[in-house]
Amino acid sequence: MPSSQSSATAPVNSTYKPIAPSKNRPIYPQENYYIEQPATPGAYLGPIDASLPNAPSADNIPLLFQPFTIKDLTIPNRIVVAPMCMYSSLDGFFTNFHLASIGSFAINGAGLIIQEATAVLPNGRITPGCAGLWDDAQVYKLKEIVDFVHVQGGKVGIQLAHAGRKASAGAPYTKYPESAFWPEDVIAPSGGAHLQWDKHHRVPRELSLAEIQQVIDAFGAAAARASRAGMDTVEIHGAHGYLIHNFLSPLTNQRTDHYGGSLENRARFLLEVVKAVRANFPAEKPIFLRVSASDLVEEVEGIEDSWEIEQTIQIAKWVRDAGVDVLHVSSGGNTSQQKILTSPGYQVPFAEQIKRAVPGLAVVAVGIILDGLQAEEVLKSEKADLVAAGRTFLRHPNFALNAARELNVKAAFSQQYSRGRTIHS
Ligand SMILES: Cc1cc2nc3c(=O)[nH]c(=O)nc-3n(C[C@H](O)[C@H](O)[C@H](O)COP(=O)(O)O)c2cc1C
Repeated sequence: MPSSQSSATAPVNSTYKPIAPSKNRPIYPQENYYIEQPATPGAYLGPIDASLPNAPSADNIPLLFQPFTIKDLTIPNRIVVAPMCMYSSLDGFFTNFHLASIGSFAINGAGLIIQEATAVLPNGRITPGCAGLWDDAQVYKLKEIVDFVHVQGGKVGIQLAHAGRKASAGAPYTKYPESAFWPEDVIAPSGGAHLQWDKHHRVPRELSLAEIQQVIDAFGAAAARASRAGMDTVEIHGAHGYLIHNFLSPLTNQRTDHYGGSLENRARFLLEVVKAVRANFPAEKPIFLRVSASDLVEEVEGIEDSWEIEQTIQIAKWVRDAGVDVLHVSSGGNTSQQKILTSPGYQVPFAEQIKRAVPGLAVVAVGIILDGLQAEEVLKSEKADLVAAGRTFLRHPNFALNAARELNVKAAFSQQYSRGRTIHS
């Protein structure tokens, strides 16, 4: 959207101030001046205290601080920032908030940052404040963010998503005018009032076969845009009760055509999305897929057929063969009847089961990973290849550097922050 236009979908309590074209500030080349980083923030440099028992050494580097390579992507440590919606976009565009937020993770040593759920179509946003990548114009700001991460030496990916029956919802801290929503265009494999996620969500309508193809094509087009922005990877969002998960789970997929019924049919949409993304993203770069390993309704009376770990393992093999390199293992989100019992590392057992059952597919564990020792244990016990954290990064954008200190690892600081280092870090 040109800066001269105001947005009909701007939140009522926003501070969005369009700049008149005549007042556009000049572009200063100096703003793209960067100080070189001799080592990527978060990379292993040595022990903090070599005299301590089991101090890290060249042949005894904690796994969390060993680089990880998949295809042409090498990340300096095994710590991933999980995708987190910030509800800070206007008309899907990334903003300076994202630059500052993602930038701060990069400055502070995260191995790989996966940007938030980013809708491949306007009706695929969870809320009017969600990010999007359905328009070529949305690439510019994204590229600025990617370039910033890259000059720090960091790596970044983006989660491509369609919110399915959970779209057009209210954002947590911003009030939008009714014109910002799309209640008539909330799409899902199957529609009807009985498939409303809860009474605060919209009634979904069933996708036609032609519309299914349009969504698949939109995933491909968004992957091409992510590639143009210079993304190191893309993550397909197949979790948390959004469109792909709606297709996978018998709880939300009641279709009688070749996209519903058997597991093969319910997985067809996902596999076609994977194919479209793979075809539009450079072959030498990896693709991640986020899944919910279970609908978490096994304890719920009256539900007989749901999405469970055995099916996740089966589709993990199919997506691996279709070109997915890394599975990011989450759970739940497809029904308000779910029973989630959260505790530190609560989803790691799902990651572990998939890792054991599906060779050739790297696995990310996520879910209340709080410190370096816990993260290292997940890797040492071979339950996952990478560890992701969400909320821990919101509390501590320098989580990776804190984790290093806990493991007696001297990790690289960005030059600008290097005077923050003491003899104990
Ligand atoms: C503010 C916030 C926004 C989130 N947005 C997304 C998202 O865009 N995509 C996604 O797959 N998961 C999202 N999640 C889930 C996180 O990626 C993560 O899986 C979850 O918070 C559990 O990990 P944690 O205990 O380390 O936070 C979000 C979580 C939070 C707290």
